[in-house]
Amino acid sequence: MDTSAQPCTVKFSTGENIPLELHKVRVVQKLHLLPIEQRLVAMQRAGFNTFQLNTTEVFLDMLTDSGTNAMSDNQVSAMLRADDAYAGSQSFYRMEAAVREVFGTEYVIPVHQGRAAENVISRAFIKPGDVIPMNYHFTTTKAHMEMNGGKIFEIYTDEALKIKSSFPFKGNIDINKLNALIAEYGAARIPFIRLEASTNLIGGQPFSIANMRAVRQVADQHKIMVLLDASLIGENAYFIKQREAEFKNTPIKDILLTMCGLVDLIYFSSRKVSSTRGGAICSRSKELFLKVRDLVVLYEGFVTYGGMSVREIEAMAVGMYETTDETVISQSPSFIAYLVNQLDKRGIPVVTPAGALGCHLDAMGFLPHVPQKEYPAGALAAALFIVSGARGMERGTISSVRDENGNDLLADVELLRLAFPRRVFTLSQTQYVLDRLVWLYQNRDLVGGLKFVEEPKVLRFFMGRLAPVSDWPEKLVAKFRADFGDSL
Ligand code: F0G
Repeated sequence: MDTSAQPCTVKFSTGENIPLELHKVRVVQKLHLLPIEQRLVAMQRAGFNTFQLNTTEVFLDMLTDSGTNAMSDNQVSAMLRADDAYAGSQSFYRMEAAVREVFGTEYVIPVHQGRAAENVISRAFIKPGDVIPMNYHFTTTKAHMEMNGGKIFEIYTDEALKIKSSFPFKGNIDINKLNALIAEYGAARIPFIRLEASTNLIGGQPFSIANMRAVRQVADQHKIMVLLDASLIGENAYFIKQREAEFKNTPIKDILLTMCGLVDLIYFSSRKVSSTRGGAICSRSKELFLKVRDLVVLYEGFVTYGGMSVREIEAMAVGMYETTDETVISQSPSFIAYLVNQLDKRGIPVVTPAGALGCHLDAMGFLPHVPQKEYPAGALAAALFIVSGARGMERGTISSVRDENGNDLLADVELLRLAFPRRVFTLSQTQYVLDRLVWLYQNRDLVGGLKFVEEPKVLRFFMGRLAPVSDWPEKLVAKFRADFGDSL
């Protein structure tokens, strides 16, 4: 029986839709739930930056799904047959065949991870003064494109940044804004239009195929290339099946081929899409492929490994095929939807509709008393870690940059992202996070802001160190002890 079209949610006899683990756990890793006093010490040591925590200090690692999805038995077993060769490895040819079949792209080249593809593509296509329209930026994308002299324009729809919304495709590009941008700057200054599947920084929000078709039409009119960041394409395809009437009965593999057929050049982080490590660039066009190929050899490695280990390439090949399995690509969204809907029901501010990658809490709604210049999303990330041991990722002003006068460019939205790597967390762990979030929301007045004490110039959110603006973390710990007694 073909079970590849089963989504991971079932209706219980109570009428409630509950996410169900359609896999069994066969290898486990011990976790550590430290007492709250030690969690506070860990947070202080980490400079109130969750990137600086060690996993021995973390209970539920919800920082990211990048490189942390659970692999399948078939992926792990494929790694054993990896063919070590500098050039012409069979592992590469298996991966190439998988990408060709799943994305319909003849030309495939591996790179060591998603941002490596961004480096190569930016160098190959962007020149100083260029303008790049996109649904929304990703941190590393923006850094690479700007470093090559490009200026990015985010031309999202009016719904995109609304925290509470029922709009199914918040990742869509606004076609009027796209036309206006082309009219203003001219097609010659636009090397490509970038579409990011399951748009990460606005809450893992998908675009529709109708929108892709409209973008394609405008691009054809002006002879502009369309670039797809396919790092989260599986989940975007799943949402298209769920939310776009035309594709209700279309198999995921056909949705993926339709999406990929509407763009010229594709790149992805396989740390996400195929639950492995690495990344790739692919295209149906030989001409475009040749433009990136020589840079890959220069920066990444020979064309049949591109900086990746052949073991990962084997697992990536299997992971690509698994991306066409609805059970696989709906696993993370179904757990996210559960947590988002439970929080929303309790009035806790969270991005809706539930998207891909993680549950995104609205820190400005959660902590309205913390001014944006005191980094509410960073403060919420620190507070949640202290009260639960769950580590999320700040996606707000700390992840932004300063302007030329040294002032923070305040982020459009202040989000705390709680990632759900595929097949990693159980329902009771999800319920634990829900419980601690509910408690934190009831005690939100105790949480204060943060300030930078060490601030790197580039991508400061990774290595920066911060400090609380008052002794709020100690007060939070005292309240937790008063309410929970000896419990962890
Ligand atoms: N594009 C998107 C949409 C991403 O989400 C990421 C990474 C990249 C490109 C860069 O890929 O990490 O393999 O170099 N996102 C991770 C995250 C880091 O946590 O969301 P990479």
